[in-house]
Amino acid sequence: NTGGLILGIESSCDETAAAVVLCGSETLSNVVASQIAIHSPYGGVVPELASREHLRNILPVVRAALREAGATYNDLDAIAVTEGPGLAGALLVGITFAKSLAFALNKPLIAVNHLEGHIHAVLLEQKMLEEQEKRKDNELSSPADRSSSAGWEAEGPALCLVVSGGHTHLYLYRQFEGAGGPSTPAASKNVGRTVDDAAGEAFDKVAKLLGLGYPGGPWIDALAPHGNPHAVPFSFAQIKAKVHRKNDPNALDPSRMTYFSFSGIKTAVLRHTQVHEMAAGIEARRAALAVISDPKPSDALPLCDQSTLDLVASFQRAVVDDLRRKTFRAAEAFGAATVLVSGGVAANRELRVRFTAEAAERGLPIAFPSLTLSTDNAAMIAAAAWPKLVARDFAPETLTAVPSLAL
Ligand code: KG4
Ligand code: ZN
Repeated sequence: NTGGLILGIESSCDETAAAVVLCGSETLSNVVASQIAIHSPYGGVVPELASREHLRNILPVVRAALREAGATYNDLDAIAVTEGPGLAGALLVGITFAKSLAFALNKPLIAVNHLEGHIHAVLLEQKMLEEQEKRKDNELSSPADRSSSAGWEAEGPALCLVVSGGHTHLYLYRQFEGAGGPSTPAASKNVGRTVDDAAGEAFDKVAKLLGLGYPGGPWIDALAPHGNPHAVPFSFAQIKAKVHRKNDPNALDPSRMTYFSFSGIKTAVLRHTQVHEMAAGIEARRAALAVISDPKPSDALPLCDQSTLDLVASFQRAVVDDLRRKTFRAAEAFGAATVLVSGGVAANRELRVRFTAEAAERGLPIAFPSLTLSTDNAAMIAAAAWPKLVARDFAPETLTAVPSLAL
């Protein structure tokens, strides 16, 4: 006799977030307190400052989420919280808050892996489920097709790219049977990861070294269309699987593991600025943006010469191409029936256009979360908790932060 009203809490990095989601599919509220302004002067997240801000924000954010959902604490069926991966001190704020709430209300506590949350950001919006339902309708109307095209499960798993400031992972994910209904516990297998920087980290670092704002992704996204993406050739090393084999307990078959590497391109961009003597321009731009309160990418555009815009466009094209090539290669290798892309970098417009085009060419369905669900939020945490509530997979009272939790 369980209802499905879940309060999700997320505090793994620099957003304090709370959301109320019904049965993993209906978002009643989704509140995010961003700390961008606080970390911006440092060009990256400062863990100690993040923890303090989470402490300051967590109660107002949770209250706002309940208020917007028109719910009270007593209406809740469970409290879900991000267990990891993330910053230890930041995670602990959300976890301690969620534990206290669950204890005081005598409601179940559910621990959610942040990366599984990102995957659920896509599933939550049910684009794939709608697809599936449509397909089912078609099958029912033409019984002759039924044998050739079975359900989702038989067609194969989803290949998910989770790409953010902290992660660049590929997962094979098999999750739901039947549209809208409670899911069986998810089965996921890690089939790809970065060996150094995450893709979003590369966006952030390149934006910083070009004198642009933080976080860098949206700035590069906005400036890239003004440059020539073929101006600067960047290349990615093909990482040999066996080099990393011993570090990868999940890679049962290392030849089928995909590796990304984004630290080299950051160095290549830096070298390019040195060879082409761009330092003075970068300093001038940094100084000009520093005196604008709340600067936007549109403020940076007139401060960029064509060679800077070409560099930005070439960088973005190279990263997006590398992600696209490796993601679809993996999708093919595993016979994936669909592709999901999630995480902050999934907000990138060029990435969406180029992934969508390749998916169409291959006849593969593809789904992205809406822009607000691409970056960190708690709706995805509450959505990921729903199958766990159904399975009564609850967290112990001893739950604590696991900063390097794997999925
Ligand atoms: O998922 P997220 O909010 O936090 C992490 O879990 O890391 O992702 C933030 C990352 C940052 O690196 C940011 O620069 C990047 O996502 N990002 C973008 C865009 N919007 C955010 N990267 C490229 N293009 C964008 N439009
Ligand atoms: Zn994230």
